[in-house]
Amino acid sequence: MSEIIDGKAVASEIRADLRDAIETLTDAGTRPGLATVLMGDDPASETYVSMKQRDCEEVGIEGIHVDVDGDAPAEELYDTIDDLNDDPEVHGYIVQAPVPDHVDYQEVIRRVDPGKDVDGFHPENVGRLVAGDARFRPCTPHGVQKLLEAYDVETEGADVTIVGRSNIVGKPLANLLIQKADDGNATVTVCHSRTENLAEKTRTADVVVAAVGVPELIDGDMIGEGAVVIDVGVNRVAADTETGYELVGDVAFESAKEKASAITPVPGGVGPMTRAMLLYNTVVAASEQTGVDVELP
Ligand code: GUN
Repeated sequence: MSEIIDGKAVASEIRADLRDAIETLTDAGTRPGLATVLMGDDPASETYVSMKQRDCEEVGIEGIHVDVDGDAPAEELYDTIDDLNDDPEVHGYIVQAPVPDHVDYQEVIRRVDPGKDVDGFHPENVGRLVAGDARFRPCTPHGVQKLLEAYDVETEGADVTIVGRSNIVGKPLANLLIQKADDGNATVTVCHSRTENLAEKTRTADVVVAAVGVPELIDGDMIGEGAVVIDVGVNRVAADTETGYELVGDVAFESAKEKASAITPVPGGVGPMTRAMLLYNTVVAASEQTGVDVELP
């Protein structure tokens, strides 16, 4: 039996700590501002964005939301980005992915002012992270690091297997965990869809991070006795519920929890941490832009 890692509780503590920093900035004359941009009407994205706006309200960040019609030309999104880059009240913003097919997402990422790039996706910020000089840690990897820290999971010398090589989670998390740092110093294996003998790589790991987007790919047979399991997956699968779907992770929770020493649930594990770290990055951005120092959690 394993300990259930309570991401909701840890995220709530981080938000509480951030409130002090936000108050410091606000008292010094600048209320931190976070904008969310959504192009199109993907229902999951709409939910994520509205949760992010609700988080802003809770902690005292000025939340601004911009909708862009899904059929509008790409230039309309680029113009929105240019406007946000120029808006002094917006310290950070994100363009919710996925964007419609006719929009070049890499151009979107390159166009965001790196100082306002609270996703941490701009090439300048990716480069800084890899070089060990991160300005913004991408929210989900940072959230995973904070969860491990909150549950006293030592990364130094640990064998960590990450399943998934996305630019949003797998690649930045691998880079963060190999840094020479207290929350790094791990030996990291990154697996993906072409990995052979996946179970061999997960079974020997002290920490398994599943971030591959395949419902319940990782089951108890693939987890070593006593490993820590972090499930980043959020998959909507058809179910006989009011909404017609349920959320499941990339880990088969019931069987994995029989082997793991600690495991995150879905929902209530990594998701709330991702959102908390977006607020964190907004505070970092506002502090950097105003020159007002704050204490960060
Ligand atoms: N879509 C899914 N995850 C993310 C994220 O972390 N940032 C943005 N901008 N879009 C996403």
